[in-house]
Amino acid sequence: MRIAMIGAGYVGLVSGACFSDFGHHVTCVDTDQSKIDALNRGEIPIHEPGLDTLVASNAKQKRLNFVTDITRAVGEAEVVFIAVGTPSRRGDGHADLTYVYAAAREIAKAITKFTVVVNKSTVPVGTGDEVERIIREENPEAEFAVVSNPEFLREGAAIRDFKHPDRIVIGSSDARAKQVMAEVYRPLHLNTSPILYTDRRTAELTKYAANSFLATKVAFINEIADLAEKVGANVQEVARGIGLDNRIGAKFLHAGPGYGGSCFPKDTLALIKTGQDFEAPLRIVETVVAVNDQRKRAMARKVAHAFGGNLRGKTIAILGVTFKPNTDDMRDAPSIPLITALQDMGAEIRVYDPVGMEQARKVFENVTFCDSAYDCARGSHAVTIVTEWEQFRALDLKEMAAIMACPVIVDLRNIYAPDEVVRNGFLYSGVGRPQSVAY
Ligand code: NAI
Repeated sequence: MRIAMIGAGYVGLVSGACFSDFGHHVTCVDTDQSKIDALNRGEIPIHEPGLDTLVASNAKQKRLNFVTDITRAVGEAEVVFIAVGTPSRRGDGHADLTYVYAAAREIAKAITKFTVVVNKSTVPVGTGDEVERIIREENPEAEFAVVSNPEFLREGAAIRDFKHPDRIVIGSSDARAKQVMAEVYRPLHLNTSPILYTDRRTAELTKYAANSFLATKVAFINEIADLAEKVGANVQEVARGIGLDNRIGAKFLHAGPGYGGSCFPKDTLALIKTGQDFEAPLRIVETVVAVNDQRKRAMARKVAHAFGGNLRGKTIAILGVTFKPNTDDMRDAPSIPLITALQDMGAEIRVYDPVGMEQARKVFENVTFCDSAYDCARGSHAVTIVTEWEQFRALDLKEMAAIMACPVIVDLRNIYAPDEVVRNGFLYSGVGRPQSVAY
């Protein structure tokens, strides 16, 4: 099968590489010339474990290539995926569909035969209808069907998630398109991943509902963590106690600094907007967004609490700035509002992240960028663990205590046992555990 993948970002590049690994011929198209040049030099523009070898081996076997010119890629393809960004629109929180519609116009001009146009980007209900209208308007002769096929992969585990998804959702009422999609996903289906066929609008809504539900779990457990701190209970054990119930499930019940990243914040907002537009308000999701927004500053207050609420003259070391481990993605990372809040309180900030430093330099101002966790901790009054990178899980606490101006650890991911840290001479603050504040 010949596939064109429009957009070679986190989703397009991973999907394109995985499809080619299954034996399809994939051309990834991106308007960003520097990205395509880098890929053609064998450089991967994002950090995603395993992606470099996957891309290299499939590019070598000529099943995967990278271009900026859409015409030939679409002209030769039986299936064209749209995997461009759908960020929040500045000012109102609706999904910005500019890139999707621009891609649709380009695709329309390049269609030469019956083509299945698949929306993999996360888009509001009705976007498929608009993509269909645009293509028809641009090229009235075109033979095509528009399908919704939302993507559920997670950055940091994207290849595994793509190759072994919990489910594949395909939204279309066109019999020919469904047959083509079944062929595209046949290798995954044989891996026993179920395919859910539905109509296009249902598929579009399913993606937003999934992300908003997961965001709700995170916001919920964070509020339980706050209560646990007040009543002397342990949120990790509560999470285990409820998560072992199959009806609830164990995932997304880790208390922490609130969700962030390239999907949850924008997708919850976009769903709220759709709800408002259709007079079916999503009050639970509205509350989740508010709770999550407030959490970042609350975490800054947690740091300040160690110093009687005043951070003037204090240096805070931030370990981990990407929104989660194993990615360099800083979009809407919790570290951003957290660091702003700490700076507002007068703190000097030092920052270290194992792979996110290049992105961090584009985002943060007036912070000191460091070369390692220890370099970051040196001379600081508190170390705050914001992203739970593996390499932060076994820091040499004795060494840390020796190089810090004041031995305080604020562990926003609960990756340390409080008593172990306190035994090493630290003041320790975690999230939602009885010994959360051990000073
Ligand atoms: P991204 O920003 O990493 O990549 C988008 C790419 O599209 C960029 O390289 C951009 O240059 C390119 N592009 C924009 N307009 C184009 C055009 N007209 N023609 C060709 N290329 C064009 O975005 P990301 O993270 O890959 O997200 C893509 C979509 O997938 C979004 O809707 C997102 O919500 C969704 N999604 C993202 C996930 C993630 O973990 N990042 C997971 C699941 C869904």
